Amino acid sequence: MRQTLFALCLAAAASPVLAQDETKGRIDFVKEIQPILQNHCVKCHGAKKQEGELRLDLKKHVFHDEKDLWSIVPGDAEFSPVYERIILPADDPDVMPAEGEPLTPEQVAKIKTWIEQGAEWPESADQALLELEAKRKAREVITLPELDDAQRAAEAQAIDAVREAGGLALRVAANTTAIEVNFSLLGDKVTDAHLETLRGLEPTLVWLNLARTKVGDAGVRSLGGFQQMRRLNLANSAVTDAGLETLAGLEGLEYLNLYGTAVTDAGLRHLEGLGGLQRLYLWQTQVTDEGAANLLKKLPDLQIDLGRAAEALLAPAEPKPAPINDKCPVSDKPVDVAHTSEIDGKLVAFCCGNCKAKFDADPAPFRAKLGLEVAAAKPINDTCPVSGKPIDASKTSTIDGKLVAFCCGNCKAKFDADPAPFRAKLGLEAK
Ligand code: HEC
Repeated sequence: MRQTLFALCLAAAASPVLAQDETKGRIDFVKEIQPILQNHCVKCHGAKKQEGELRLDLKKHVFHDEKDLWSIVPGDAEFSPVYERIILPADDPDVMPAEGEPLTPEQVAKIKTWIEQGAEWPESADQALLELEAKRKAREVITLPELDDAQRAAEAQAIDAVREAGGLALRVAANTTAIEVNFSLLGDKVTDAHLETLRGLEPTLVWLNLARTKVGDAGVRSLGGFQQMRRLNLANSAVTDAGLETLAGLEGLEYLNLYGTAVTDAGLRHLEGLGGLQRLYLWQTQVTDEGAANLLKKLPDLQIDLGRAAEALLAPAEPKPAPINDKCPVSDKPVDVAHTSEIDGKLVAFCCGNCKAKFDADPAPFRAKLGLEVAAAKPINDTCPVSGKPIDASKTSTIDGKLVAFCCGNCKAKFDADPAPFRAKLGLEAK
């Protein structure tokens, strides 16, 4: 064991490039670190599996709310469980990765340097990953089981029947056998009986749009055999909680729109087993914040759209005001929300108690950094950079020391997550 460790040290020491040049420069997370995590860790610490209750795929999972439990401690490799585990000898039972080749000394050194440089993890890195994942998923739609002759004939008949009934039936893309059916254009002329036309499309129907139709629970119940279904739009239909029970069996469902329906928290319970569900629309339903939060506990990766700010969902009833800054105005380090002060009725957070004390003694020098003077004046924009709608002056963020306003909390959240795409619209220099 000792020998392996020794060999590891030797290998690292024998690589002068690594020890000097490479570690001097700034490590690029996207190019140098993310691929290591993706290729060697995420299979056990990602969306599918969370060994040791650890995820290393997305920023929000790595730098989660319980800061004391972070497995990567920015600035401190030796105290970071991730680093501790990858430097163990190859035969140590605790070494990570737990299977397969150990990381190379170069990879280990890069992770060490990256952590010591502050473990910067740009939001855009996660965005790129999610987009890639979405594309991979979209391609998956294309590969469905081959149909035999009888199935092909039944499918052709069904397509004709849908079209005769006034609906649309098409392939979702040129290179796939997957079918999309849309009855929403006929609106309330469509009843449960129209769904009879779908018989024969069981192996290939992936998207079904029944928005604004009169389809109700009996109709939805007839969809139980459509195991390839990915997207189902029931917005403003007559479906209720009883219909959702059928949907529990559509295990491939990724998108479900229940906007404007009579569903309640009780109905949502039927969806708890739909592990592939990515987006769920629930505006103007009877679903409560609590009901949505309960579902999120079962499906943490699901994005629920309640037509109100999603972050409110998991917050306590009396939400704490959020600090206006995410970098300490004194040290520029990431803030720890345990250390805050109030100024101009706004909450400001610091990285530590020392910085808070410095700020409290004389806040004046830090006002500009917090965008406070600008805040007293006016936001630099009058339409929301995200939606193009008129702004609500109470929804603001600061960027480059300037105040930017949004039409709603959702747009603010989108902007805060990654302001880069909106900089040009605000007349700010691209970064
Ligand atoms: C083949 C599966 C597998 C792979 C790949 C893997 N791990 Fe693990 N990891 C585990 C298991 C199982 C545990 C829980 C048992 C334990 O703590 O050893 C764990 C636990 C951990 C822990 C401790 C979590 C805690 O706080 O209890 C860390 C840190 C960790 N892994 C980091 C990594 C890193 C970094 C990589 C990639 C370089 C990686 N793992 C790759 C299976 C894996």
